[in-house]
Amino acid sequence: MPDDLSNSAAALTNHVWPNDDLQLIPDWVYTSQEIYEREVERIFHGRTWNFVALECEIPQPGSFKRSFVGPTPVIVARNNDGSIHVFENRCAHRGAELCRPQVGTTKEFVCPYHQWTYDLTGNLIGVPFRRGLNKEGGMPKDFRPEDHNLLKLSVTTRRGVVFASFAKDMESIEDYLGPAVLEDFDALFDGRKLKLLGYYRNTVPANWKMYHENLKDPYHATLLHAFLVNFGLMVAGNKCGTIVDPSGRHGTLASARPDEKLNVDDDSKKQMRAFKEGMKLEDERFLDYVKEFKSPWTVTMQTIWPNLITQRELNTLGVRHIVPQGPNEFLMIWVMFGYEDDTDEMTRHRLRQGNLMGPSGFLGLEDNEAMKFVQQGMVRSVSDTNYVALGDREEGTTHKIITEAAIRSMYRNYRGVMGL
Ligand SMILES: [Fe+2]
Repeated sequence: MPDDLSNSAAALTNHVWPNDDLQLIPDWVYTSQEIYEREVERIFHGRTWNFVALECEIPQPGSFKRSFVGPTPVIVARNNDGSIHVFENRCAHRGAELCRPQVGTTKEFVCPYHQWTYDLTGNLIGVPFRRGLNKEGGMPKDFRPEDHNLLKLSVTTRRGVVFASFAKDMESIEDYLGPAVLEDFDALFDGRKLKLLGYYRNTVPANWKMYHENLKDPYHATLLHAFLVNFGLMVAGNKCGTIVDPSGRHGTLASARPDEKLNVDDDSKKQMRAFKEGMKLEDERFLDYVKEFKSPWTVTMQTIWPNLITQRELNTLGVRHIVPQGPNEFLMIWVMFGYEDDTDEMTRHRLRQGNLMGPSGFLGLEDNEAMKFVQQGMVRSVSDTNYVALGDREEGTTHKIITEAAIRSMYRNYRGVMGL
């Protein structure tokens, strides 16, 4: 075992899971710097496929995107032959994050500090004054540029979505996702070419895992989200599924809006404080659902471990890229898209419905606030565990709505990987 691993194993003796029961999650999972460092090492830099880009963001040779694997800055670039390369955004000389624009087109990457230059695959191709000046100074005689390329990651794509890994021997993305999660992934990425519609970026003052948990939690949807409840998008009584892959780490939160307005029974109305009878939108086109997917679900939100959310909410489509920034904060990058063959009217519909999403969206807003409240509660409290028992301790795929089964499945996998 390398030294750094044995050191961090020793440091974790303070962190012992309260018992073997997954219904108790210790607060330190969300607040400890040591735990966070181990997550970066074992999860984001470990045997995982991490989302880095959509192919439509880097459409032509020379296109690039500044991205992240976990907290680690990377560059995603399309080479002249069309192939996609992902390498660390860290100059081999002094470690500067050399690529600064979010997206663009270039022939090469030049570090702004000392102008060391790299090609579109991350190879070092230029070092100014390599042989010194007037035969003085410069690199040692045995300097070999090919020993100082940018650190290259493994890359794979599925239907226009680009993933990268620090591991060299990853299984295929299809095997990584498993058949049940792949089915809903492919319903969204159905082979049509994607058209980029825009971005949102926001920081959330909460632990990154909470975003996964939020989208493995159908319970909150009918309680927190007044918009969902009042306009019939999701109420207690909808057909719903919480699908979990065999490893427990990925999931799909799915629901089907009935064609007819659902009659909410009196007991459910009482339990859902956000429910108000008779609310109506001024512009009812907002909630139109144009059937376009081979899927029984009108909504699928997928949590793809460790850093990707795919969003298909009626006709508003997007991915969310989770970039952890320590235990108490993450950056969220939302990439909204449609398809290349969309009519102008369909694009307008997607953009209009996109008001549900983003940091100030009719749905997006409340999740951010709720996660902030949870983080603040845990950082400051003297109690020490979350209680996650809904759904009678079941794990794995379920079609109940009042359950936390998928959260427990995620922690079953997490504890194995983290050695907790
Ligand atoms: Fe939510």
